[in-house]
Amino acid sequence: MPDVVLGIETSCDETSAALLVAGGRGESRPELASLVILSQDVHRVFGGVVPELASRAHLTALPAVVDRALVEAGLGWHAVDAVAVTAGPGLAGALLVGVVYAKALAYAGDRALIGVNHLEGHLFAPVVEDPELEPPFVALLVSGGHTLLLDVPAWGRYRLLGATRDDAAGEAFDKVATLLGLGYPGGAAIEQLAATGDPARFTFPRPMLDEGLEFSFSGLKTAVLHAVRGSSDLEGDRPHLARGFQDAVLDVLVTKLQRAVEATGHRTAVLGGGVACNRALGQLAARRLEGRARVVVASPRLNADNAAMIARAGWYRLGQGERSDWTLDARADLPLPGLEAAPAPTLTSRL
Ligand code: KG4
Ligand code: ZN
Repeated sequence: MPDVVLGIETSCDETSAALLVAGGRGESRPELASLVILSQDVHRVFGGVVPELASRAHLTALPAVVDRALVEAGLGWHAVDAVAVTAGPGLAGALLVGVVYAKALAYAGDRALIGVNHLEGHLFAPVVEDPELEPPFVALLVSGGHTLLLDVPAWGRYRLLGATRDDAAGEAFDKVATLLGLGYPGGAAIEQLAATGDPARFTFPRPMLDEGLEFSFSGLKTAVLHAVRGSSDLEGDRPHLARGFQDAVLDVLVTKLQRAVEATGHRTAVLGGGVACNRALGQLAARRLEGRARVVVASPRLNADNAAMIARAGWYRLGQGERSDWTLDARADLPLPGLEAAPAPTLTSRL
């Protein structure tokens, strides 16, 4: 098992590198020695990520980001035993930059290489800070591209309980932020604005609230669009619209999470992905699951796209004896390894 793993993440618009070092208490508890995240600003003016620009920005920044991570960890390249890199899912060209760079580093230095699934990275994010965290648990992964409810009976085994039928939760935040003129990405701006909004002013639909474990957010987005068009004082209504929208999304997310906790009987619920940076989400989940399950959320820096989670998931895979070879490829639609579709769970209560 390696003692030092370099993680690299370039799946979307963050260029990130991190170093994980074996801790004093054995290989299952590595410590984060450094984490560098460079967020690409260039996309703001376009109101969304432009894939070609993302690839070019990664290409320019990645060597300096990796060097910076080594400097901050106080380590030289010679200390690195293995390179863990996001191989997908994500933007094909952006992923390719990270994968090719990681392959070149590992090949030139004769180091181990491991390709990591970005979603498995998000699942491992809280473990970086909370090494005690162990399955079984229910995980709600909510990012710009995914909304997944998973039963995690063991690391590496993932049973899909529910996913979105249309927009991802983060995508809904971003689209509503655009409607409210908040710029891209808009999740954090909505959260900030919602904090001053009146929850009673706008009540938006909670799509599929009473049924199953799947999600749908496109109707909610349309409802906000109608409310925006119908507003005679948009400037004054913006915080209330943001609040009404956020309350609806969080209600749906947490109701499904509760239902999954009831269905599986697990005593731990993990929130992950960029939307898990939303503190109101963590608070609502903790309140509703009190006495039923412990809610675990990593700090925002580890929930947004970052290389520490990739290094940690890679650490786990390397510990299982896995290695990637030089044929490792970037795959925009890489499936989560060990993902099984779960049979419809028997609900023990009607939540
Ligand atoms: O995981 P992530 O960094 O990238 C993907 O893998 O997609 O997630 C990014 C998403 C964006 O849609 C962003 O608006 C959302 O996470 N997000 C938030 C917050 N911070 C980021 N959504 C709600 N509240 C936040 N505070
Ligand atoms: Zn992500």
